[in-house]
Amino acid sequence: MIRFVTATFIIVFASTAIAADKASVEEGARIAVTGGCHDCHTEGFAESGGKVDTKKALLGNQIGFQGPWGTTYPANLRITLSKMSENEFVKYGHTMKTRPPMPWYGVNTMTDHELRSLYQYVKSFGEIGRPAPEYVEPNQTPKTPFIVFAPPNMPAQ
Ligand code: HEC
Repeated sequence: MIRFVTATFIIVFASTAIAADKASVEEGARIAVTGGCHDCHTEGFAESGGKVDTKKALLGNQIGFQGPWGTTYPANLRITLSKMSENEFVKYGHTMKTRPPMPWYGVNTMTDHELRSLYQYVKSFGEIGRPAPEYVEPNQTPKTPFIVFAPPNMPAQ
């Protein structure tokens, strides 16, 4: 009897652990919200109070961020991920580095499980859309609207 209970417990425990370890689209959807990815990479997301429009989700943004680094645009992640396998994205996610204000260091710390889920979520949309505008060098004028990152009262260093 004890042996039976122990065996049952091990089987139940092991299968729960496997289920929890399975990357999923649902988990990726949650990470894209908690990780802040939609805030920049999905047009209208922040303004809507956090509603994901699946027609626009992670298609990138036409509004740039300007600072000493030039002007950068949140990339169309559906296009970026369409060029990689899931395993390639896991490697890329752990090592990627971009210009500001992309929080690449946060993506670097994600677990394999989180990166796999994010990949599956981005791939679930199908239609990959058009690329975000190209990066613009400092001192050049972008052709699109942009947000300036410049504290007006920054104390002298
Ligand atoms: C504050 C805005 C912001 C947030 C938040 C943000 N990103 Fe970005 N992301 C950007 C910008 C801007 C770029 C372009 C950087 C450049 O041009 O070097 C970018 C670039 C990227 C790239 C590189 C794409 C390519 O093709 O080169 C990836 C991948 C990426 N972001 C993933 C994510 C993920 C995943 C999250 C959520 C965990 C996230 N980003 C959150 C702004 C943001």
